Amino acid sequence: MEWSDALARGGAAEFDGEAEKNGMMPLRRATARLLSCEVENVCVGSSATELLCSVAWAVSPPKGSNIVSTKASFPSTVYPWTRVADANGAEVRLADYNSGLYTEPDDILSLIDQDTVVVTVSHVEFSSGQRYDLRRLANAAHSVGAILVVDATQSMGMVPIDAPNSGADVIVSSGYKWLRGTYGAAVGYISPSVCSDMYPGLLGFRSHDDIWDLRAERMTLPEDASRFEYTTIHFGAALGLARAIDEICDFGTQEVWEHDLKLADLVIEGANRLGLNIVSPMSERERSAIVSLRMPAGVSSEIISRRLQEEHSILVTSRAGLLRVSPHMDNTPEEVEMLIQALNTLLS
Ligand SMILES: Cc1ncc(COP(=O)(O)O)c(C=O)c1O
Repeated sequence: MEWSDALARGGAAEFDGEAEKNGMMPLRRATARLLSCEVENVCVGSSATELLCSVAWAVSPPKGSNIVSTKASFPSTVYPWTRVADANGAEVRLADYNSGLYTEPDDILSLIDQDTVVVTVSHVEFSSGQRYDLRRLANAAHSVGAILVVDATQSMGMVPIDAPNSGADVIVSSGYKWLRGTYGAAVGYISPSVCSDMYPGLLGFRSHDDIWDLRAERMTLPEDASRFEYTTIHFGAALGLARAIDEICDFGTQEVWEHDLKLADLVIEGANRLGLNIVSPMSERERSAIVSLRMPAGVSSEIISRRLQEEHSILVTSRAGLLRVSPHMDNTPEEVEMLIQALNTLLS
């Protein structure tokens, strides 16, 4: 907001060329801190989908190759690959889920073969909260020469991620979920092992390594992940997201994770008291702070979520016919208890 105010007041006098050139840096630095990687491995974009599209075209799986993902994925995790696969004659293979929206990780692995170029998943599935073992997927992908691309929009800021040791080659996250930013900014990690081979799908004046040396007849991409930064963005959103990520780092990523899981435990406990079925995986290896609840037969999760907001000022989401509860660092155990009490009132 300070950035927007300054821009409204002074235009380019408040935000000059030098500021624009360095406009991504606070967010790149904060993200590098969050992911325990180098600033050079981080890029900034406007949305997760945009970064994933650019990565998909950069990899451009050729005719006859395949991309492996899951049917439970958020569409933006898969669609960028669908587009490139359609253009090139590649195949998108999606592992199915069961009646509890659960994807058996072995079903993902069994789709991988010698022609696989990319394995891509949402680190945490948006509807069930199922979390994948990135190392296991990376090993399987790398064993056939494929890369692992991770959409961490539903995990980054909740689950601690040590990017260089995760096995992932690319990690992308939107800013407005667990990172607690506004719309308009997203971050990407591009492993140094794949970065120099990546020719981004989206190019613009900022793609040249000296952004103010404006000559259309040539372009030299930066060596580092900033090659994916190609044009102007909502710099204010990026600055705000940088602050929000620094706040998470100051709180401690492990502390946030433990806090969120403790609240998720309280959601589970309360749901059990109400006799509600919990769809989300509950094993330590596969769980997250997303707890999806099945409403009793004949009760619409859509209506319950609307009434929770209108009558109790409690925000949860209806997704895939489930009530998705996502407690995070700003929430307290008392607020979870308020939710359980409100659910009790509405359901009885
Ligand atoms: C897993 C996942 N990926 C991507 C997105 C969309 O991100 P963006 O709006 O930044 O493209 C969402 C939004 O809900 C999501 O849950």
